[in-house]
Amino acid sequence: MRYALISDVHANLPALEAVLGEVEARGEADAIYHLGDLVGYAPWPDEVVSLIRERAIPGVAGNYDSTVGTDHPHCGCRYEDARQEELSHISYEWTRRHVCADTRRYLGALPFRIDVRPLGGHHGGPRLVLVHGNPVLNTVYWTEDRSDRFCQEMAGKVAAKAGDVIAFGHTHRPWHRVVAGVHMVNTGSVGRPKDGDWRAGYTVVRMAARDVEVEHVRVEYDVERAAAAIRASELPDDFAEQLLAGGAQSSDGAASGGTE
Ligand SMILES: [Fe+2]
Repeated sequence: MRYALISDVHANLPALEAVLGEVEARGEADAIYHLGDLVGYAPWPDEVVSLIRERAIPGVAGNYDSTVGTDHPHCGCRYEDARQEELSHISYEWTRRHVCADTRRYLGALPFRIDVRPLGGHHGGPRLVLVHGNPVLNTVYWTEDRSDRFCQEMAGKVAAKAGDVIAFGHTHRPWHRVVAGVHMVNTGSVGRPKDGDWRAGYTVVRMAARDVEVEHVRVEYDVERAAAAIRASELPDDFAEQLLAGGAQSSDGAASGGTE
């Protein structure tokens, strides 16, 4: 089975359209799943959710989805400085005000986790486990430099065995590690990458009985259209600049590590 995994679209409709177009053009995905954070930071939350629903793409709740969906007072984001905190609040309040009731209900109903069995439910394994951030919380970063011990602890939370895959997003940076035989796959971000590459990112996971292959894919899209729409909205222009740069830049020029 081949899975196209898309995460952190963040209301960026042109990026989502480009990724779905690429998945379709390749014609190799048996299923598409989203890993949450469909909304926030760009001006198409309803349109992105509509497209996901129209294509019947199942998925899990990101911190943005579960907070907008339940009208929580805070998006669960983490900040590196006061300016980032201010920007995050503006984005969250804008999104809360602009999503329709139908979108809010959909976001609030998303499950925390989905387990998939590529060989069928009558086989015990391997499994593909889908979450947004990690198996415990959708707000905590699972970065590539986490210790083996942390990775094994997370794998233990879902009783993952060698050959299983745990896929997630949330950090907006793609990576793949194997710890004690368990594949940990960060699928990157469709609509708000933070690794310095502006192109939309998604990940293809191919699973067979004893084989796992992971491919991180990048897709060019009309980033100028996204940037122009952000500038034309009440959202801060900073978000347009961040999209064009492939990630937020802090004052010392390093890519920002804030949690979204
Ligand atoms: Fe996110």
